[in-house]
Amino acid sequence: MASPGSSGRCSSRSRVPEFRAGPSGGRGVPAVGLGTASARFMGEDDFRVVLLAALEVGYRHIDTASVYGSERVVGEGVADAVRRGVLKSREEVFVTTKVWCTQCHPDLVLPSLMESLQNLQMEYVDLYLVHWPMSVKPSKPHYPMKREYIVPMDLTKVWQAMEECHRLGLAKMIGVSNFTTKKLQELLTFAKIPPAVNQVELNPVWQQKKLLEFCKEKGIHVTAYHPLGGKYKTSTVNPVMNSDVLKEIAEAKGKSVAQISLRWIYEQGASMLTTSTKRERLKENIEIFDWQLSDDDRLKISQIPQHKKVSVLSILCPDGVSSVELSEVDVVEA
Ligand SMILES: NC(=O)c1ccc[n+]([C@@H]2O[C@H](COP(=O)([O-])OP(=O)(O)OC[C@H]3O[C@@H](n4cnc5c(N)ncnc54)[C@H](OP(=O)(O)O)[C@@H]3O)[C@@H](O)[C@H]2O)c1
Repeated sequence: MASPGSSGRCSSRSRVPEFRAGPSGGRGVPAVGLGTASARFMGEDDFRVVLLAALEVGYRHIDTASVYGSERVVGEGVADAVRRGVLKSREEVFVTTKVWCTQCHPDLVLPSLMESLQNLQMEYVDLYLVHWPMSVKPSKPHYPMKREYIVPMDLTKVWQAMEECHRLGLAKMIGVSNFTTKKLQELLTFAKIPPAVNQVELNPVWQQKKLLEFCKEKGIHVTAYHPLGGKYKTSTVNPVMNSDVLKEIAEAKGKSVAQISLRWIYEQGASMLTTSTKRERLKENIEIFDWQLSDDDRLKISQIPQHKKVSVLSILCPDGVSSVELSEVDVVEA
């Protein structure tokens, strides 16, 4: 069953449908992808096991970024999956990577992609994203970053460099991440190639109604990160996984809270990136396509109090002073 906006197609040997995005005729974005931001905390061998398990159960989208430090292992994992016959070829998998703030300068965007491709041992990525609408003094990708190193971003020239990456065939699609409607509006005034995707925090507890509406109107596909609320310290309550509304719906439907959250995102016409160290959860998280929420479920979810996790402060050192107004580079919708 395909939601509105979904092409309803599945890549070979995977039951995960794809959403249309970017230029017509291009490859679709698989509705659920594997996030790799936590790879560096897991240890390489454990991450390899997760990656192979995800590909075996049917994931065909891998999300990485220069700042995650996971590109090399992703590339090796995909090559290993091809050798084992889990994938027919690299073409079967949709690979996203991102240029970090420290390379978000017109002359550093292409070199950063070349480095990512070198790490991935791939000739192209399916999607290349501007990770955050912020430029920071050039250095190796890292965070938290010093506030005093933030510099004004030349979005026009950065985007021209992204367009060049696409023209060279190194990125099949280009897009952005953490862009508000205001930032997207600015980008659309000069983009020759409009962004195919905006990757943002999205889940039933941060519903992004205004941004979703805007992106739909402009033909920009939305991909959700933190679809299950993300990782929380054990002392803090995850508002998605502990939502009474989601728990009640899950119980009535015989589904898990995670599946209710992911299904709700799918029904918004968005794809999503999730991850788990457990094979059975990876599988559970893609078993969301042959059932649906009721109107009553959707109404209850629309009334959940809203709570945002990520802001620009999440990637900056706590002290220091920026010469750029932080609200200009934040992800919070005005
Ligand atoms: N563009 C950006 O700025 C940005 C920012 C953040 C993230 N991202 C991308 O989005 C990806 C996903 O983010 P995320 O890891 O925060 O996603 P998430 O899916 O919201 O959270 C993952 C957490 O949920 C748990 N989990 C997974 N499946 C579960 C299930 N069925 N039941 C209960 N718990 C479950 C996992 O724990 P267990 O391992 O114990 O199962 C894991 O700790 C990242 O890896 C990254 O690729 C992008």
